[in-house]
Amino acid sequence: MSTASPRDKPIGVFDSGMGGLTVMRALMERLPHESFVYLGDTARLPYGSKSADVVTRYAVQCARALTAHDIKLLVVACNTASSTALPALTQTLAPTPVIGVIEPGAEAAIAAAPSGRIAVIATEGTVRGGAYSRAILARNPAARVTQQACPLFVALAEEGMTTGPIPELVAKQYLDAMLGEAKPECLVLGCTHFPALKETIARVAGPNVVLVDSAATTAKSVERLLGEKNIARESGTPEPPRFLATDAPERFARVGEIFLGRKIAGDSVELVDLQNL
Ligand code: DGL
Repeated sequence: MSTASPRDKPIGVFDSGMGGLTVMRALMERLPHESFVYLGDTARLPYGSKSADVVTRYAVQCARALTAHDIKLLVVACNTASSTALPALTQTLAPTPVIGVIEPGAEAAIAAAPSGRIAVIATEGTVRGGAYSRAILARNPAARVTQQACPLFVALAEEGMTTGPIPELVAKQYLDAMLGEAKPECLVLGCTHFPALKETIARVAGPNVVLVDSAATTAKSVERLLGEKNIARESGTPEPPRFLATDAPERFARVGEIFLGRKIAGDSVELVDLQNL
């Protein structure tokens, strides 16, 4: 049993891979005194094309692995896992608080689209589950929400192919018809990997569409929750971030830097096995 004060415990963050490091980046910027431990389920990415049952089982295993690090709060950075597994995760981790990216993303979308015309782009799983639509409509029942799955964006981001003719062509293929019909005022980047393609998506969407990235809003919600639970660490130097990956830790360190925006030391990434959790 740990004797650390609850305030000094780390915040756990997980994603199906490295994309969730964009959320971790926003968290580290907003909460500079907090320590973090991040798990990327790199062996089993993508979650976006898997069934809700499988995603829930994987997500619960990720959460269990992080509880072994004595976390004080869990951030589900993966949109697909947030949209399907949040109730199971909340139950598994109770009383440790759990927060996903859907509610903060919906909040940011409402703020960015006074007309209520909102488009959400995400993985197939997130679109199928409809969690963004529900969260947006719960806040503004008059909103008109359009959803579009963009699975190839995940592969492009993982390859570091985020600008140029190929991503632009893919973005046009996915978005042109939807943008023309729905005329959204804002486009929610409802997947961890999509902020990496922001420049390309913005060019295809045009200047009248605001892009909403839930990372910053999630960091704000985490700050609020830490305050409510009285577990915020408000001063002092945090522990260096720790990283866990279920496959290829050296690739995680190399490619992860693109998403995190800072250096990841190769030896700071630990290989973990979640099968028996
Ligand atoms: N992390 C996933 C999400 O945000 C994207 C990658 C995947 O499909 O696993 O939905």
